Amino acid sequence: MSFHPRTVIEPFRIKTVEPIRHTSREEREAALEAAGYNLFLLKAEDVLIDLLTDSGTGAMSSAQWGGMLQGDESYAGAKSFFRFEAAVKEITGFKHVIPTHQGRAAERILFGSALKEGDVVPNNTHFDTTRANVEFRGATALDIPIAEGRVPGLIHPFKGNIDLPALERNLSENPGRVPLAMITVTNNSGGGQPVSMANIRAASELCRRHGVPFFLDACRFAENAWFIKLREPGYAGKTPLQIAQEMFSYADGCTMSAKKDGLANIGGFLALNDDDLAGRCKNLLILTEGFPTYGGLAGYDLEAIAVGLHEVVDEDYLRYRIRSVEYLGEKLTACDVPIVQPTGGHAIYIDAKAMLPHIPQSEYPAWALSLVLYLEGGVRSVEIGSVMFGRQPDGSEKPSAMELVRLAFPRRVYTQSHVDYLAEVLLYVNGLKERIRGVRIVDAPPALRHFSARMAPAHGELIA
Ligand SMILES: Cc1ncc(COP(=O)(O)O)c(C=O)c1O
Repeated sequence: MSFHPRTVIEPFRIKTVEPIRHTSREEREAALEAAGYNLFLLKAEDVLIDLLTDSGTGAMSSAQWGGMLQGDESYAGAKSFFRFEAAVKEITGFKHVIPTHQGRAAERILFGSALKEGDVVPNNTHFDTTRANVEFRGATALDIPIAEGRVPGLIHPFKGNIDLPALERNLSENPGRVPLAMITVTNNSGGGQPVSMANIRAASELCRRHGVPFFLDACRFAENAWFIKLREPGYAGKTPLQIAQEMFSYADGCTMSAKKDGLANIGGFLALNDDDLAGRCKNLLILTEGFPTYGGLAGYDLEAIAVGLHEVVDEDYLRYRIRSVEYLGEKLTACDVPIVQPTGGHAIYIDAKAMLPHIPQSEYPAWALSLVLYLEGGVRSVEIGSVMFGRQPDGSEKPSAMELVRLAFPRRVYTQSHVDYLAEVLLYVNGLKERIRGVRIVDAPPALRHFSARMAPAHGELIA
């Protein structure tokens, strides 16, 4: 008999540390006011636990830092590019690999080359930058997750799945107007929920039948692969790399932010098979990002991504990663804090509509809750609700389907005691939920307003 521990430990030792700073409630109150009640506008040093995003905020490994010293900074044809390209090709199998400075640049290059006004792009759920880049081309970003994906408390193994009948309908009803369809893995805006291999395969078949290229928004491909291994029959014995390779085999291309499952602080790529489209993308890339063998990145960034793509499919890493999120989810669920169930890959999503039913959507309950989490515990999160998605392209307001507060876990950064602290903050705030009040928009730009909007308490104070 051998020892089978139940505790899933962080599969790394900490070699370098960065102090984090406690602040007083008064200091946080003043910081919120100075930031126009927008957590994006806070100074990071005023945040104790920063869960604003898992994007580019991870800790790199010693192997990544070591790799960076080998960065080849040649303008064209650098060795670092070929190492990067080989790492991307091993996982995705795509013919053309185009580096970009981050995910949204890959989106802009792809949509700038493939979309025209009046087009439609179906996706399980577009991420905010993806949607904005589609709409910037005058096209429609169509979200068609399965119905279960829109019910926060409902348990389903693959809530990130795309609604296949809706996809088929849209492909049939818009001939010549769907230049590509996408699936986002995992579905970030839909709660970090995974997409099953069966769903990816079926969506790919539908698209092929209609002659429409099928792309993955692959930011969290490794986390998605881990969920497939855990939850989908037939995949338990496969490695995350094999599963990821199969996922990509059904697609014609992908956009990727390497700031997530590239385990890097910056970078991204667009990868695809179509020679003609790749040529047009590379021409646009040269115009705005850089030569196709660096795409706006330093050689050392390409090295960090090449190593990161290798490390991210490690089973111990993925087990720890998914377990840390689940661990917080279990503590919250045990105390009846409503969260998106089951817990997703990179974040906990609190269902603010369920937690704060007394705040109307017009007073942005998820935004208000995120402010209170900072005020009481120094925790920074992000609203994924009507501030982020409420403004329509024609300028009108439509309440978002869900009002979520996302607590995104940076990769390899926080330990179990940080997570225990988080749980304490969340349970404390849950205890005063009836007293939390809504907020209003004071001033906001027309697009991506959540990044820079100035807000204020709608009734004089955040907590009555
Ligand atoms: C699903 C998804 N797509 C695209 C992006 C955009 O990537 P980037 O922030 O690197 O531009 C993100 C970033 O959070 C994302 O989560």
